[in-house]
Amino acid sequence: MCGIVGYIGNQDAYPILIKGLHRLEYRGYDSAGVALIDGDQLNIYKAKGKVSDLEESCTSKNIAGTIGIAHTRWATHGEPNHINAHPHYSQSADLALIHNGIIENYAVLKEGLKQKGYTFQSQTDTEVLVQLIEYVKTSNKTDISTAVQLALKQVVGAYAIAVVEKSNPDLIIAARKSSPLVVGIGENEYFIASDASPIIEYTNKVIYLEDEEIAIIRRQEPPKIVNLNNVPKTLQITQLEMSLSELEKGGYPHFMLKEIFEQTRTLRDCMRGRINIDNNHVALSGIIDNKDKFLNARRILILACGTSWHAGLIGEYLFEEFCRIPVEVEYSSEFRYRKPVIYPDDVVIAISQSGETADTLAAIELAKNAGAFVYGICNVVGSSIPRHTHSGSYTHVGPEIGVASTKAFTAQTLVLIMMALNIGKEKKTIPQKQFEKILLELDKIPDKIEMILEQNSKIEDLSKIFTYAHNFIYMGRGYSFPIALEGALKLKEISYIHAEGYPAAEMKHGPIALIDNEMPVVVIATNGHTYDKTISNIQEIKARKGRILAIVNKYDDKVKNMADYVIEIPDTEECLGPLLSIIPLQLLSYHIAVKKGRNVDMPRNLAKSVTVE
Ligand code: M6R
Repeated sequence: MCGIVGYIGNQDAYPILIKGLHRLEYRGYDSAGVALIDGDQLNIYKAKGKVSDLEESCTSKNIAGTIGIAHTRWATHGEPNHINAHPHYSQSADLALIHNGIIENYAVLKEGLKQKGYTFQSQTDTEVLVQLIEYVKTSNKTDISTAVQLALKQVVGAYAIAVVEKSNPDLIIAARKSSPLVVGIGENEYFIASDASPIIEYTNKVIYLEDEEIAIIRRQEPPKIVNLNNVPKTLQITQLEMSLSELEKGGYPHFMLKEIFEQTRTLRDCMRGRINIDNNHVALSGIIDNKDKFLNARRILILACGTSWHAGLIGEYLFEEFCRIPVEVEYSSEFRYRKPVIYPDDVVIAISQSGETADTLAAIELAKNAGAFVYGICNVVGSSIPRHTHSGSYTHVGPEIGVASTKAFTAQTLVLIMMALNIGKEKKTIPQKQFEKILLELDKIPDKIEMILEQNSKIEDLSKIFTYAHNFIYMGRGYSFPIALEGALKLKEISYIHAEGYPAAEMKHGPIALIDNEMPVVVIATNGHTYDKTISNIQEIKARKGRILAIVNKYDDKVKNMADYVIEIPDTEECLGPLLSIIPLQLLSYHIAVKKGRNVDMPRNLAKSVTVE
């Protein structure tokens, strides 16, 4: 999704803004732009394509100025082109504005402004907003910060904005509603950004803006935060824990590969302080602090999108098996627009890597308004979801930059496993022996992941065989069904090969019609109580000449004899299987996408943080 960067201080703004835009590239975008104030000039430069295209187009331009704003745009209103790229000038070219989000009532506002003589260059909702601010400013004869407040009161929708004014070169105004915005506090310099990644190399002190708050950032003065009614708010400065090295590729060709290989460490980090093998103990502070809510839950509702939704599906199997609590897993986008039945004694678990997914945030509000207790599982510390939920657990995997979620998925799954064990133990719904066995095995998971990662070059070789394919089917049963869905999503989003995941037994209800000798079928056929049933499903595929790539456990002999290709992974407890079986599938997708020359870290049309619905 779109990215915002802003700077005001004593340094040249342009290099800071460009570097910041590069740091935000992982979010996904299709054009970029920058606005700089130099003396009495307000210069805007824009380019379709990458930030490097913008840099190239700026080589012979005046890039001086110690104040500026910059943007990467992910098209919503109007195609991705130079004209629709941000920043946008106001009619008089005295204001420049960048915007993330969607102004839902832009058409009505635009019509009103047209009648007042305003003309528009772009198809964007953003240009409407900057014109509206200028109109409010001139018609009310007010200053820019009051004009922003008054204009935003007329806006329906989501926004994170930054505005600069030619005649006011010591001021940036920023505001947010339902779209994240962070203000960085340096030494006599200030930064704004959609997330902390462009800021971290300059300062670790930040202020997270809340909805309908406006930051008035003047040179050499502490920022002032007010709401839309101009009521000031006490500054709440947060210390960032992220380090710059965590944002770099560390010698890997892509962030995705780095993040796949990090999983041995990230899962250890995620378990740290939460599991004690010697004492047979699992405790998540969010569960302990809200024990009664979980013990008395009538139902668990899991809300998420994409990969996080797949982790939620594993959660369903876990909570039902170990806690005997009924579970429903919902796409946030569907849930929020249904008329869902929500009970006050429901526990809602919202899962999100970014903590900013617009649909999940809206679904959380719905659940809270119905009186449910909402627990967040998030990765990005201080993001919107942890701030809007009653309690929760962080996954602690560090920044995930690759658009395809990998280490966040395994950590989300691990948090759900620890939650189910913690609640199951408290409820006494999990036999002590089984609890201890799983705990012991959990401790071995990072080493077992390491063993799978050692097969990277074998998986890379295997990937060559499959680059021809236009379609893929993934299948699994039980805990492996969500892995079939996740494996298929990983492949399609980065290689652009069509792939679908199915519960293996569903094949004969329709999808089996697709099988022929060109169709690769990836089967997760690891040990478990449906192993024999999966074998029957494999036979059905073989009988129709499908080409089987099976994920099997070491020492498996039955599937190996039937499959065309196999990848062996270590054995583990059935409920922990997803933590291992997803690793070869992540690697397979990665290598196929690389072989096909795809932009693995920033696949087309996708955004890392989906802040619009
Ligand atoms: O940040 P979130 O976990 O809320 O994001 C949800 C989805 O947009 C995300 O998982 C998406 O499906 C990924 N690209 C999958 O790799």
